[in-house]
Amino acid sequence: MQRTYIKDLKSHVDNEVLIKAWISVRRDQGKMFFFDFRDATGTVQGVVLPGSNAGEISNSLRTEWVVSVKGKVNKRPERNIKEGVLNGDIELEILEIEVLNKAETPVFDIGADTREINEETRLENRYLDLRSDRLQKNLRMRHKVSNFVRSKLDEQNFVEVETPIFTKSTPEGARDYVVPSRIYPGKFYALPQSPQQYKQLLMSGGIERYYQFARCMRDEDLRGDRQPEFTQLDMEMSFATEEEIMSVTENLLIEVVTKLYPEKKIQQIPFPRIPYKEAMEKYGNDRPDIRENKEDENLLAFCWVVDFPFFEKTSTSDNPQAEGEWTFTHNPFSLSKEEFVENLKERKNIGDIIAAQYDIVLNGYEIGGGSVRAHDPEILKNILGILGHSEEKIQSNFGHMLKALGSGTPPHGGIAWGFDRLMMILQNEPNIREVIAFPKTREGRDPMMDSPSEISGAQMDELSIKILKKDK
Ligand code: AMO
Repeated sequence: MQRTYIKDLKSHVDNEVLIKAWISVRRDQGKMFFFDFRDATGTVQGVVLPGSNAGEISNSLRTEWVVSVKGKVNKRPERNIKEGVLNGDIELEILEIEVLNKAETPVFDIGADTREINEETRLENRYLDLRSDRLQKNLRMRHKVSNFVRSKLDEQNFVEVETPIFTKSTPEGARDYVVPSRIYPGKFYALPQSPQQYKQLLMSGGIERYYQFARCMRDEDLRGDRQPEFTQLDMEMSFATEEEIMSVTENLLIEVVTKLYPEKKIQQIPFPRIPYKEAMEKYGNDRPDIRENKEDENLLAFCWVVDFPFFEKTSTSDNPQAEGEWTFTHNPFSLSKEEFVENLKERKNIGDIIAAQYDIVLNGYEIGGGSVRAHDPEILKNILGILGHSEEKIQSNFGHMLKALGSGTPPHGGIAWGFDRLMMILQNEPNIREVIAFPKTREGRDPMMDSPSEISGAQMDELSIKILKKDK
């Protein structure tokens, strides 16, 4: 007999079916047993009637065991109908049960909201946690959103291109994770903080419209909205203006919400644009929460933050009050607004230069950011010069970018969404770990796999690596 999915049982009333499922609940009522069965599509109540052949085995069954069940789909008597619940009007009269696998007693109740459970325990047993209704919904909606985004971008001639994970250190503001090379002792790959340089090189490569659900790695202090590895919806467009890039983003976000989250309301369309200076003065930060009503979990207040200063002075480590060198506020590959291009070329009034940069903010979280890029190698050279790189450093670190820009690279720009952050807000979750299948703890550990972990002496020898014990 072919398996029937639990969501489809309704169309089999009065017929015999075979389901394959987990036991969510088992109730022993003396002469009868009641079960709640669960598969990826839903749940259904099953009953073992007095005298049934399945009576004996029912005694031994426990929750989270995996079973194959033959039964007859019956309509429930009027008084037992549960309105508004999947399969609330039917019941499976169990004829036979076969155990496909047993389960240890689960360490926590996955039928309840697992947010109440100690997170270390949840992450150590993540596969159990993933069976809970909420995490199932989070992962399935995450899939629906990425799937929808892919189809919409495809309609607009975007091409998904994968870029390397073993790459070279890029200056994006965070520390790199590095991977030692066996073949080149003493040399390291860096894991990408984002595909920034590669996506620009794809513009040099004539792709014109690129996107990728890209894994990014950053060694930074973790918070509820940060993970050491996270996913960006990364995009880049040739010949596009700031307005065009913002409008692709804005329309896509609106479509995602209207199509997949119809219960949610977007506070204002078009999304308001707030200059950086105003955001800092009025809200004290550059990711303002402009919701009119913070109690309403279905209210989505998007806004753009624009007009960022391109450069700011760093403080030096010996004297935090003192002004140090110039550093970039977002991305060294950005261009300034048109009216400041001369300043870049002449390296004058540097503190006044406004970047062609934009952040997208939702309910007080920065969910994305991007810019129009410097496509003229001379301008990029000037920017890197302002940032204090010597001519030699510029060539060794960025020579490939300058060469590519000088090879006939179209004007271009792009944006990257923090996909986990967006999903966290859409799913009304308090942190991004809830929308990631296998996240790390706040301390950057995976308690299930027990990583990071030591490697053997032989592995270290192969990599020409020695551990120096640091005095604490
Ligand atoms: P940026 O560094 O602003 O831009 O990153 C884009 C978006 O990624 C999200 N994000 C994170 N999400 C989870 N955990 C983290 N540790 C983390 N760090 C960042 C944020 C952020 O807005 N290459 C540029 C984009 C571009 O210019 O096109 C970049 O990476 O939501």
